[in-house]
Amino acid sequence: MNIRSKCKVYSNRCTWRSAEVALPTMSVCRAIRNAVRFAVLVCFGMTMNVASGEEDPLLLESRDLTKAFASRLTGELTAAIEKGGPVLAIEVCKERAPQIASELSRKSGAKVSRTSARYRNPTNAPEPWQQEVLEHFAQEMSSAGSTQPLEYFVRGSDGEPTRYARAIPTGGVCLLCHGSNVSDDLLKVLGAEYPFDQALGYEAGALRGAFSVSWPSEEVSQ
Ligand code: HEC
Repeated sequence: MNIRSKCKVYSNRCTWRSAEVALPTMSVCRAIRNAVRFAVLVCFGMTMNVASGEEDPLLLESRDLTKAFASRLTGELTAAIEKGGPVLAIEVCKERAPQIASELSRKSGAKVSRTSARYRNPTNAPEPWQQEVLEHFAQEMSSAGSTQPLEYFVRGSDGEPTRYARAIPTGGVCLLCHGSNVSDDLLKVLGAEYPFDQALGYEAGALRGAFSVSWPSEEVSQ
């Protein structure tokens, strides 16, 4: 396989993009070109047709799934904080997040999840491809000085799954349970539930993690 020429195509048809912008931005493409090792990694099986301006249906569906996940979770989290404070809201993160993810996975046939490089629950530990994506999201967010969400999309081929990820920035409300000044009450509950918690000490605007969608390879038949 000619990796070099595939990578050229890859950087021309950059799949990294700001979530708010329809077409890839220059700074995002530049970040990819700089990340040679990563570019080589994701080059395999990249067949997305950005050049024609058409959006891949699986990209659109992945985007909808993660937006639905985010808005349901934020809605339930905010309601729980208002009703019973952050200690009660821990249940939303612990119970509801995986339930919503399973529900969306069942409905779509994709594997929908949340992950983070510094995770609270080891169940959410990143797979190797997610780890690479998280590193690049973090790099892009710090080098661009922007908190704008980023997306990643690679169309699978040769039996590889099609993969999508969307960056999750740390918002103000997240600091209640992921910041540097988490209350003693909360720390006690979190410490009991998650003895190996790595998800404290985040700052507003920093990359907290990513929503992830993996499509089984048989879905990629069109
Ligand atoms: C009420 C406390 C609380 C708040 C507020 C909160 N989280 Fe969490 N978060 C948790 C808990 C508890 C977990 C572990 C859930 C589990 O067991 O899967 C978690 C897990 C996560 C994960 C999965 C990765 C991991 O660390 O295990 C992400 C991503 C995440 N939170 C992002 C956020 C974001 C973004 C916000 C703000 C919009 C937020 N959280 C607000 C308590 C909270």
